[in-house]
Amino acid sequence: MSFQAPKGVSEYFPPKSSWFEYVIWKLEEAALAANYRLIELPIFEDTELFSRGVGETTDVVSKEMYTFEDRGGRSISLRPEGTAGVIRSIIEHGLDRGQLPVKVFYKGPFFRAERPQAGRYRQFYQFGIEAVGIDDPLIDAEVISVAHRAFSKMGLKNFTLKISSLGDSDSRKKHRDDLLKFLSNVDLDEETRARVNKNPLRIFDDKRSEVQKKLQGAPLLLDYLSTESRDKFEKVQSALRSIGISFEIDPMMVRGLDYYTGTAFEFVHNQLGAQSTICGGGRYDGLMETLGGQSLSGIGFGLGIDRTLLALEAEGFELVDRQYLDLFVIPIGEIARMKAIELVNEVRMGGFVADISYGERALKGSMKAADKLSAHYVLVLGDDEINSDSGKLKKMSDGSEISITLASLVSEMKRISS
Ligand code: HAM
Repeated sequence: MSFQAPKGVSEYFPPKSSWFEYVIWKLEEAALAANYRLIELPIFEDTELFSRGVGETTDVVSKEMYTFEDRGGRSISLRPEGTAGVIRSIIEHGLDRGQLPVKVFYKGPFFRAERPQAGRYRQFYQFGIEAVGIDDPLIDAEVISVAHRAFSKMGLKNFTLKISSLGDSDSRKKHRDDLLKFLSNVDLDEETRARVNKNPLRIFDDKRSEVQKKLQGAPLLLDYLSTESRDKFEKVQSALRSIGISFEIDPMMVRGLDYYTGTAFEFVHNQLGAQSTICGGGRYDGLMETLGGQSLSGIGFGLGIDRTLLALEAEGFELVDRQYLDLFVIPIGEIARMKAIELVNEVRMGGFVADISYGERALKGSMKAADKLSAHYVLVLGDDEINSDSGKLKKMSDGSEISITLASLVSEMKRISS
């Protein structure tokens, strides 16, 4: 019997896993540079956290959650997104009672039972940041700039930033009334109608082209912004301009989660086909209160690592494999094998990457392995070397050799690599 990974999960193994590490490393660098700190959260939470936080009418909650009963009869769900968990943790541990804004980043697997296709998985990886506690357009620009800087620094090119504003509750109420009026004259099936009555904005999520056609001429939220919301949105745009980030305003943008208010944004990549959004985020005014905390606003993004990797690949990006081997020791015979494990341990303690030719491989096969692993130096250990406590470090790039004593191996490695 042979096993396969469950349908629709993404996996990263060498050498491609280096790309995965590289992307996370660039994201972490960008977040740390803006003073965000790591928050590490559980992969499962109470189901209600998501139904309340993300919204019952969203696809994510109504159709895509992996929900199960735990042994204590509680309803648990694998996290479909990160924001609700971050806010839960901030409230639970009182982080919002300290220095504001609370600025955190997170990374890891997320789960949505979607129909798998290129760039859409059931287990996928996100890197996210959240800045919670202060409502300031400069923070909106900062959050956007973290994703922008990370994409740029990792070498990604063909991406576009789209922004919009979902306004405040007044703006949304006026728009909601007009949208409901508009939709009352549109022919919709029963299920869609029921959804629309709960949250008319969700209609823009509907991917069916016949529904999209019926939405032509529908009132757009951006035209309903209150003076205050418009002013904030303009300040976000000015801040983005002043840091040289170009953007397009997309009045049709709908984010798939219910908690958004004010600034909303997406980064899209033009070589990814249908699943082109590589990062999405926005401000959420009411989420913390909905989850039982104070009334504090927050903003953040979730960035799809899998899609970012596909985007890099589509651009023909070449990653120099980060696998790096300073020394490969080839022991010949049992005594040499024991000495090799001792020497390699010392070399690793000295801060170098070292490996051994394991098994009873012939010298020729071991040298081939050293080549494949791109080892910088090779040390062959046989009886002669052990007896004389000496050996030759062979530099693989030009074949030159340096005579050493085995006792001085680490200091020699330090000397030649400095
Ligand atoms: P989201 O737009 O649902 O937002 O997801 C963010 C990103 O995760 C998407 O733009 C996409 O790149 C990636 N993604 C989502 N679903 C999948 C999937 N099935 N397969 C592969 N990639 C996927 C959120 O999750 C919000 N929590 C973001 C946020 C943080 N808003 C404020 N703070």
